[in-house]
Amino acid sequence: MPENYVNITESIKSALADFFSNRHYSKITILVDENTSRYCLPIIESSVPTFNVIEIPSGELNKNIDTCVDIWSGMTELGMDRKSLLINLGGGVIGDMGGFCASTFKRGIHFINIPTTLLSQVDASVGGKLGIDFQGFKNHIGLFCNPEAVLADPTFLRTLPEREIRSGFAEIIKHALIRDKEYLTVLMQYDIKTQPWLNHIRHSVKIKSDVVTADPKESGLRKILNFGHTMGHAIETHFLEKTGPLLHGEAIAIGMICETFLSTKLLKMSKEEMVRIQDYLIGIFGKVSIEKEEFEAILENMTHDKKNDNGLVKMSLLNSIGNSTYDINVSKADALDSLFHYQKI
Ligand SMILES: NC(=O)c1ccc[n+]([C@@H]2O[C@H](COP(=O)([O-])OP(=O)(O)OC[C@H]3O[C@@H](n4cnc5c(N)ncnc54)[C@H](O)[C@@H]3O)[C@@H](O)[C@H]2O)c1
Ligand SMILES: [Zn+2]
Repeated sequence: MPENYVNITESIKSALADFFSNRHYSKITILVDENTSRYCLPIIESSVPTFNVIEIPSGELNKNIDTCVDIWSGMTELGMDRKSLLINLGGGVIGDMGGFCASTFKRGIHFINIPTTLLSQVDASVGGKLGIDFQGFKNHIGLFCNPEAVLADPTFLRTLPEREIRSGFAEIIKHALIRDKEYLTVLMQYDIKTQPWLNHIRHSVKIKSDVVTADPKESGLRKILNFGHTMGHAIETHFLEKTGPLLHGEAIAIGMICETFLSTKLLKMSKEEMVRIQDYLIGIFGKVSIEKEEFEAILENMTHDKKNDNGLVKMSLLNSIGNSTYDINVSKADALDSLFHYQKI
């Protein structure tokens, strides 16, 4: 994917003016949820030519086919045709689902993403993965398709709850851990309130774009982006069924601690580096209580559809900070060990 395709700017207004300066669309619709309608739409409304709005309820629970039906119906009622544009204004849910609806509507119309959460700016903004959840499986139905542009502005983060900021920060830390040791040192210089987000978004997007450009369809290298995510997703799914679900980045932070432990156990990562990573992550995300009795359910989530005869799962791990690898076989016993390790910290 060309790098100029994602425009990270402190002036979303001029980015939009640039975008529309040489394009004409028959109809423009902005897709929002109740939060982005309230906090983000006012920031851009004067910079978009005549438009309509489709609003959907926020949250992962609504990232499903029923909401798509509402979006496609709205697009149809508004008379959108193949020369129309959909603007997805919101977090990863709006971006993934709006992109999916646009790229299937009349066999595909133009769409742009304006990511408004830190997570969607540094992660969902790059790579062209679109889709929805289905029958309890995350991102089960979808496709690869790139938007005409991604316009990301840290101004939107001013209204984002701190917990959501921290969740997105986990992906920034992941990008440093898999590809850029020096960048981890830069991140460690600031606390969460003083991080220079514009720089971080640019740097993180560059790391992800480089990886995605080398392997767009995830046949090899792109798998390194899954660091922390095999254990992390299993933990995220487990907590969905508990009273207080974890945000994605909060679960990934635990996953990164477990998988750093596995990197020391199965690869050559040093204990010093392992401790450096886990202390940093615990300092930001705190320690989540997971009881021994829950481990089996977590492992069951992980091996659910990936397990082979030996109970092995393939993970992306670290040789050292900034140097990652993929397709490492991890046994159920090792995965269990990593949960005990987390519990003991
Ligand atoms: N396509 C990809 O490559 C990719 C990568 C990572 C994650 N994702 C997907 O992204 C989704 C998670 O994204 P997310 O964390 O952005 O969640 P989200 O879209 O649910 O947004 C989180 C919350 O923040 C609110 N919000 C958004 N912008 C705001 C703002 N500026 N001010 C105040 N509130 C605001 C939203 O309404 C929502 O309640 C998941 O569905 C995940 O699968 C996709
Ligand atoms: Zn993630």
